[in-house]
Parts: sequence; structure tokens; C-alpha cells
Amino acid sequence: MSVTGAPLDRTDGILKVTGRACYTADHRLPGLVHAVMVTSTIPSGEITAMDTAASEGMPGVRLVMTPFNAPRLPKGGKAGADTPTAGHVMHLLQDTAVHYNNQPIAVVVADTLEQARAAAARLSVSYRAHDAVLDFGKARAQAGKPQGEDAGGADSRRGDVAAALRAATTTVDAVYTTPMEHHNPMEPHATIAAWNGDALTLYDATQYVSGVRKAVSSTLGIPVDKVRVICPFVGGGFGCKGSVWSHVVLAAMAAREAGRPVKLVVDRTQMFGTVGARPATEQHVVAATGEDGRLQALRHDVVNSTSMIEEWLESCGALTRSLYACPSRQTSHRLAKLHIGTTTFMRAPGEAPGSFALECALDELAEQLGIDPVELRLRNHAESDPQKQLPFSSKSLRECYRVAAERFGWSRRNPAPRSMQANGKLVGLGMATATYPAYRSEASAMARILPDGTALVRTGSQDLGTGTYTVMTQVAADALGLPPERVQVELGDTTFPEAPVSGGSQSVASVAPAVQAAAMTARKQLIRQAVADPASPLSGAPPEDVEIADGWLQRRSDPAQREPIAAPIARAGGKPIEAKASAKPGKEREKYSMHSFGAVFAEVRVDPDLGEIRVHRIVASYGVGRLLNRKTAYNQLMGGIVWGIGMALHEKSELDLATGRVANANLAEYHVPVNADIGTIDVSVVDENDPHINALGTKGIGEIGIVGVAAAIANAVYHATGRRVRDLPITLDKLLD
Ligand code: MOS
Repeated sequence: MSVTGAPLDRTDGILKVTGRACYTADHRLPGLVHAVMVTSTIPSGEITAMDTAASEGMPGVRLVMTPFNAPRLPKGGKAGADTPTAGHVMHLLQDTAVHYNNQPIAVVVADTLEQARAAAARLSVSYRAHDAVLDFGKARAQAGKPQGEDAGGADSRRGDVAAALRAATTTVDAVYTTPMEHHNPMEPHATIAAWNGDALTLYDATQYVSGVRKAVSSTLGIPVDKVRVICPFVGGGFGCKGSVWSHVVLAAMAAREAGRPVKLVVDRTQMFGTVGARPATEQHVVAATGEDGRLQALRHDVVNSTSMIEEWLESCGALTRSLYACPSRQTSHRLAKLHIGTTTFMRAPGEAPGSFALECALDELAEQLGIDPVELRLRNHAESDPQKQLPFSSKSLRECYRVAAERFGWSRRNPAPRSMQANGKLVGLGMATATYPAYRSEASAMARILPDGTALVRTGSQDLGTGTYTVMTQVAADALGLPPERVQVELGDTTFPEAPVSGGSQSVASVAPAVQAAAMTARKQLIRQAVADPASPLSGAPPEDVEIADGWLQRRSDPAQREPIAAPIARAGGKPIEAKASAKPGKEREKYSMHSFGAVFAEVRVDPDLGEIRVHRIVASYGVGRLLNRKTAYNQLMGGIVWGIGMALHEKSELDLATGRVANANLAEYHVPVNADIGTIDVSVVDENDPHINALGTKGIGEIGIVGVAAAIANAVYHATGRRVRDLPITLDKLLD
């Protein structure tokens, strides 16, 4: 019996479609009151005064918290250095400085949400405005080196790029740009804060309950064990919920001041600034080969936007360092500071925009050389990691190219631009490579076998909607010898054993080995108890001859000798069997380079008169280790591809250069793909056996789906139209003269 790998339906699916899954803002607490954040309306300057009288006099209002009356926090409201997330600099009303437009500057608490909103709208704020830096196009000329923790990794150099460029016969030298984007998961950020004496309980929409716990305790100056963070369901994260932002601590402060539990939901407009963004990038790529198409030199110089208060390096050059075999490589990253909200992790940070530049440049190179784009990539295939100088723990990229090309029908492509048509539309076929590192961190879990013959598994991980509950159920069921419907998994609570941030595509690789280890330990304990029990039919059997199958303890050598798993527990007085285990990466991380890989093929149809682009098909194949659940895995890869389509054609946060506000801060004007924008998506995963990566052989799948998609589409648009668009998103105006 093995349910691991089976396309099990989501164990939390019924709860979700019936509306019973409790997201953060759904929790009901007695006496709960409502907080609304007020945000700045200038991008740079100082708050000189706030007139709170009108707001305070409005019905139901309990608290108007401003920089002028907010409680002083230790260390000026700075999170400790151990805070493991971006967003270290929060806006906790400790001073009057304004660093961007839409920055939290006050909190209004009232009995109802409507009362809080109305009172927030009446708050009158006076500012002394300073000049603001808002234009990335200008700021990037003054971009500087990162000063903080990213300083060391910003630059890389191997070989002599200048000499290799002089010797090369074919060179592409081009600049690619990508815009600022905002995550906007369906569920906005939200926090409910409730104090009980000096203990704080937070319901928070987060990818990292224990990270929130650490950051909040350090910011408020209270012991970690006085903070409990609960998050059973997350309605999408994508990186913005990987950090602790101002509203979380503000909710805790407001609840303490108001003497009531407080609910604070970040509204959609505030989602554009207060909780992170993907920065704008400008990427200069130089790629050069000899006549044989073998890369001799690669240069990738990146500038990304970052806020005035915090450095965020978008590591676009990371994949250029390790994706292709190339003797001379040079990458650099510089930061252009703007008066914007902090930029942060957003799905495949680095690789998503970085692959747009690198994989478009490869396409331009292929065309100049007259070499098929797939063939060019095969000629430059890296057999080992050129940056780390280590073998890959597994790499199925050649197989991915082959499988995806075949499923796509790449051989039918006529390489000449504008050469293919269908139904009066220009047809374009393009492709790109995808890659993302396979991260892993330490995690722990608890497994408990209960007297009724079911099991409970707990770990302080999170399910972002991606299937963590489901795959952990499968792993635990197999390790325990129980059918999955007899295993209950609980996540998202800091009272459970600690697990890492659900980010960097690492949850399954980190948490599943811990769940498996805890479950196997509990099973062994139960077997030991049964064979030591004179009343058991298994009494005296060697433990290794006893297995648990479908909820029965039985002799391997004679399955007729058996009893239900509940029986020995009942005879021992009903005490559950419980085991806790941790799992962490070991030495293999120093011996191997670990990445997921994939190949993405896109077919676009472009209206020759109107420039309208439709993505007719995406065919993608991935090597991502072993799949624990084919259904949730394919689902997640497809979701990444859909986002890649949005990145290619739709998404852009328009910063108003007069005010520093995001002008399209809503889901009507910030365009994301809808069903009608998505054609056929064909995902396949090649068999991959990676003995080095972890006990289950799994690699992450959360981010790789978006990687390469925008490049494949841009390359397809070029093939359809002969027009090379190096600036995302590819809107129809860029195809029309
Ligand atoms: Mo992901 S951007 O690491 O949540």
C-alpha cells in the first residue's frame, strides 16, 4: 500500500468549497473590535501634526493611535537581528518620517469595521513634504552596491569575460526591463490580535507562523513563549506573506491599547505598498559564442528598485551563474533606491525576472547563429554546476527538452519569423529553460497514534493553498501503515513543532522528512508495545517481523496473526503513542548542487492588425524529483505557468511619478490573467530519482512554474511578428508602430 504519489484529492477541499475553512479574518472572538490602518498620502517627508478630534468623536471609536500617542516600543520598534524575514523595518508609529506613499501612519479602532473606516477617513494629517525619488529610469543611473547582507553575493566573476568577448564570433548585447509587480493573493493580509494578561495570541495570514512569533516578540520586547501565532489556512502567499509587516505589530499594539481583541485587514489598496512588491529590474545581458554556438562569455548586470529604508536584492543573475556551461561569466547586482514600499520575495524571486532576460538573450543568440533554440541550449548544457563546481544531485533537463518539444510539436516550427499563420493570425512558437534551486531547512513534527486507531500529525508548517495538508497526510499514512482517511494533519500553530517558512519552494522537502520520521518512530513504538504485550497475538514476535498495514498490526511471516492497532493501546489503558522528530539537511548539500529544471514551450497567436496576443498553448516539462501528489503538484506547476502568462502580458504596477502612489492599486486595473486568457496548459513531470536530496527524493515545485514562461512567450511573440520586445509586459502597443 502506498498513497504517497497518488493523486489524492485535497484533504481540506470539502472544508474550502463549503466555506468552513477558517481563514484569518474569519475567526470570531468574543469582544472583537475592528482596526483600520491609515496610510500616508505623500511619498517623502514628515508628519507635522494629526488632528484626531473629529475621528475620536465618531460613533463606536475606541482608539486613534498615531505617532504622537502610540506606545513607545523597545529599540524604537525595530525587529531583532534574528528576525528571519524581510520587512525588518516596520512602520510602528514610533516616529513621524514618511518614506513612501501608502505607508502606515495611524490606526483607528472602532466597534464595527464601518465605524473604523469612517473615522479613519476623517483623520486630518499635516505634512512637511520632501523631494521624492520615484523614477526608476532616472534612479538606476545612480544605483549602488548593496551594503547589507547581500553585499557579498551581489557580484560574481569567473574567467576573463573581456577577452572571451573579443574572441567571440557572435554576440548579443541587450537590455531587458521588467516592471514592479504586487503579489495580491486572493486572501489579503490580515491579523487578529488578542491579549490575555501578558500573553499574546495572533491569528495571522502568514507563510511562517514561527517567524511572526519571533519578529513580534522581538519588536514588542516580550518573551517568545508569550506569543502564539495561529494560521490554519492561507489564501495564497507568493512571498508577501513570508515576512512580518507593520500591520501585524500594529494590531497587537492596538489590541493592548484598546483592551479588546482587534482585527486588522489590509485592504486591497494597501496591498500595493505596505506588504512588499517585486521590484522593477533593468538587466543588461551580453552573451557571446564561437561559430559552434558554444557560449564563451556571459555577462548579466542587474539593477533593481528598492525602498529607501531597506535593501532588497532581486537575484536575477543567479541562474546566469549556473544554468549553462560557459567558461567566462560575470554578474552584478545594483540597487536603485526609491520612495516606495519595501520590495521583497515574489514567486521565484530572482529567477522569474532573471530568466526573462537570459532566456530571451539565448533566443536572440540562436537566431543570429541560425541554430535551433533547443539545440543551442543542448550545446551549452551544464553537466555540473559551473558556479559551485559541484555535480548536480540530479538533473533531467535534457529529458525535459525532449519530452516538452515532442508534446509541443516543436519540429513543425519554421524558424523564420512571421512564417507561420493560422486563421488569419500570426503564429509564434518559442521556448525557454526553467530552473530553481531545491532548498531545504530543518523542520520538526509530531505523530500521535490515538486509542481509536487513528493518528494525529502536527507540524508548525503552513498550507498556502498548495496541498501541504494533503501531502503530509499521504506521507504520514504510509509511514504509519494507515489509510489516509485515518490520519489527521494539523498545521499553522506555534504550539506545534517548529517548521520553516513556506517559501523558497522548500516546504515539502523540509517538512515531509520530519513528518515521515515522526510517524515511523511512532509506528515502531507501537510495534514494540504490541510484541511486549502478553495479551497480543503478536506477543514475542521479533519487531522486524511485524508490520502495520491498513490499520492492522500483523506478522509479515504470517499475516493471519494480527490485531487492530487500537487493541494494544486499549489494553495499555488508552494512552496514545506519541513521537516527535526533526529532520535537517546534511553534508550532501556540500557535495551536490541541487536544482529543479524544466523546459517551457509557448505558442502565441497575434492579430497582425491589432497586435492582440493570445497564448494559445503552453507545454512544459519538469524534473522536480519525486512527486508526492501528482494532482496538487501539477496544479501548482500550472498555477506558476498562469502567473508567467500574467507576467508576460498583463502585470505592471504603475507608479504615479507625481505622487508615488501605485495608480492601479486594485484588481480591476492591475491586470492578471482570467480564464479567458488561458489556452491549453500541458504539464508533464519526468521520472527523476534523486537519492541525495532528502529521504523522500522530492524537490520543490512552488516557484519553478513561473520561471521561463515570460521568455518563452516573448520568444514566441518575436517568432510570430519579427518584433523583439525586451520590456515587460508585452502589451499590444509595443507591437504596433
Ligand atoms: Mo516564495 S516568493 O519564496 O514565498
